[in-house]
Amino acid sequence: MELFAPRGTNDILPDAVGGWQYLERIVRETCERYGYREIRLPLFEHTEVFARGVGETTDIVEKEMYTFQDRSGRSLTLRPEGTAQVVRAFIEHKLYGKALPFKVYYIGPMFRYERPQKGRYRQFHQFGVEALGSASPLLDVEMIALPISLYRAAGLHEFEVHINSIGCHVCRPAYREKLTAYLSERREALCPTCLERLERNPLRVLDCKNPGCREATEGAPKSHEHLCTECHDHFSTVRAGLDAVGIRYVLNPRLVRGLDYYSRTVFELIGLDLGAQDALGGGGRYDGLVEQCGGPPTPAVGFAVGMERLLLSLEARDALRSDGRAPQVYVAALGDAARSRALEIALAMRQAGLRTELDYEDRSLKAQMRTAQRSGAQYVVILGDDELAAGRAAVRKMATGEQSEVPLTGIVQWLEGRVNG
Ligand code: HAM
Repeated sequence: MELFAPRGTNDILPDAVGGWQYLERIVRETCERYGYREIRLPLFEHTEVFARGVGETTDIVEKEMYTFQDRSGRSLTLRPEGTAQVVRAFIEHKLYGKALPFKVYYIGPMFRYERPQKGRYRQFHQFGVEALGSASPLLDVEMIALPISLYRAAGLHEFEVHINSIGCHVCRPAYREKLTAYLSERREALCPTCLERLERNPLRVLDCKNPGCREATEGAPKSHEHLCTECHDHFSTVRAGLDAVGIRYVLNPRLVRGLDYYSRTVFELIGLDLGAQDALGGGGRYDGLVEQCGGPPTPAVGFAVGMERLLLSLEARDALRSDGRAPQVYVAALGDAARSRALEIALAMRQAGLRTELDYEDRSLKAQMRTAQRSGAQYVVILGDDELAAGRAAVRKMATGEQSEVPLTGIVQWLEGRVNG
């Protein structure tokens, strides 16, 4: 039987890992600069966490979850996103009793049973940021500023910021009614999926990509024009805040987001190099979610970014850097006595902090030099039986070909003083 990875998953091989490490480092540095601390949560949860948290009528819960029964018959689900589980942990550990806002970030795999294509996978990676315990519009502004500054730090400058406000439990029902009435008059133009949405989740009709639906919704009532006074003031302050810090955005009345927990501000970061799957990241407020999941009333806001899409965008702009590092030293040995000393010397170098590689096979010096060259090592230590007898090794600096005789007793210090980071 031929074995291969499941559809929609990716193996990240060592040559590609440096790009991921580069990005992960920037994520950590940026989040910590903004005062967020890392949280690490399980890859699976009780199905209820997402069914209740993300919402029964969402695409994620209806058709995209990897749900299974474990051996004792519990229903578990591989996490499709991180917000609902951060809320679960926040309530479970009574973190609402500590200093608020509770500010955390996470990096890790998420799982959704979607049709794979470029930028859309069944196991993908997100980094996400959540702040629980403040309704301040300043936090909304910070939530939008953070991924922007992260993209810039990573080398990506080509993206758009879209924002909208979808109101709260006070103003949304009336808006929803208006929208439903408007859409009901245009039923014939809607696709079958939107006809279903019309009953259960009419806001989602606004972000349907189907040309018929788009045309039908062209003049639809806009949520940001139907806000209650509190939501209106909140959104005005968010917009003024974005202007004040120089963030340019598109006010997009079609932006409603696909998860049920949102209220007030929602936003998306749209990549310009991604084709159909162009959302680099998205988020918004979820002021009602903690309470809905059994905790005390706790306003909150957050976002998540798809790491694969960010990597694709960086690659498209030739801006992807790598944290992968070549060995600093390669130890080549010729002859039996020299080979057994080679490992000892390599271990001493590693102990001293030098990235060191060596030959494990009985290969010719030429072959070892070729491997050293390919590995990118800065120096090669050449050990022959004669050198060994004299207590010395030849050390070649690969960049210049310059060769020195170095006593074995001081070779670690000699290299320590010469290699680059
Ligand atoms: P989301 O919009 O479902 O939001 O996902 C956020 C980002 O994850 C998307 O913009 C996209 O870049 C990436 N993504 C989603 N699905 C896939 C996929 N199948 N393959 C590759 N990338 C994908 C959330 O998940 C919310 N939890 C965000 C949030 C946090 N809202 C508040 N706090």
